[in-house]
Amino acid sequence: VTEMVYKTATSVDGYIADASHSLAWLFEVDRSEGAPDHEAFMQSVGAVVEGSTTYEWVLRETDLLTNPARWHDFYGQRPTFVFTSRQLPVQVGADVRFVCGSVLEALPALRAAAKGRDVWVVGGGDLAGQFADAGALDKVILTIAPATLAGGAPLFPRRLGADRLALLKAERIGQFVELTYALSRAT
Ligand SMILES: NC(=O)c1ccc[n+]([C@@H]2O[C@H](COP(=O)([O-])OP(=O)(O)OC[C@H]3O[C@@H](n4cnc5c(N)ncnc54)[C@H](OP(=O)(O)O)[C@@H]3O)[C@@H](O)[C@H]2O)c1
Repeated sequence: VTEMVYKTATSVDGYIADASHSLAWLFEVDRSEGAPDHEAFMQSVGAVVEGSTTYEWVLRETDLLTNPARWHDFYGQRPTFVFTSRQLPVQVGADVRFVCGSVLEALPALRAAAKGRDVWVVGGGDLAGQFADAGALDKVILTIAPATLAGGAPLFPRRLGADRLALLKAERIGQFVELTYALSRAT
């Protein structure tokens, strides 16, 4: 069964990027005692979905338009759905599909593309919130980095309580903590 999984790294105070959309605070964490196994997670992922700010960050970070091979380091052959109201560049050979508007309407295409594996909702926080609003978010996996940012891109700008969120797993991985929550539908 395909699950929709919002998996992201976050600061202790709940931001996924700082005010200038930088992830330097994340990359500077000491990984000598261990770091989350991203490859293992990607094994369960059949399709990827993200907002346009995140997509543009990946384009910049990988210098993708001049280094097409780097796309595959990030996403492999997986279809990547980008929510945007704009026309954005795509590297030839990358399976990028632009979608606009309601998450609910995009769900059948996402599920079909995942081919029985999970859909990774990369972010940002509001897009993950739109999936939750649509009753389509099944899991939230947070990798908490030892940093506070005092502002930036919010982790999840929605209000959900213990009636909706249940802790499935908590694990220390070196300087990180990984928390896995199941999200139940609103009743
Ligand atoms: N820490 C981590 O692991 C992690 C993970 C993910 C992201 N990030 C970072 O966090 C930041 C997130 O940025 P963000 O909060 O701006 O979120 P985002 O989801 O990446 O981008 C938001 C944009 O997506 C488009 N969009 C969202 N929903 C849409 C819809 N239903 N229909 C059409 N377009 C839609 C809109 O832009 P347009 O319509 O103008 O295109 C919107 O402004 C980025 O800097 C990213 O690099 C960090």
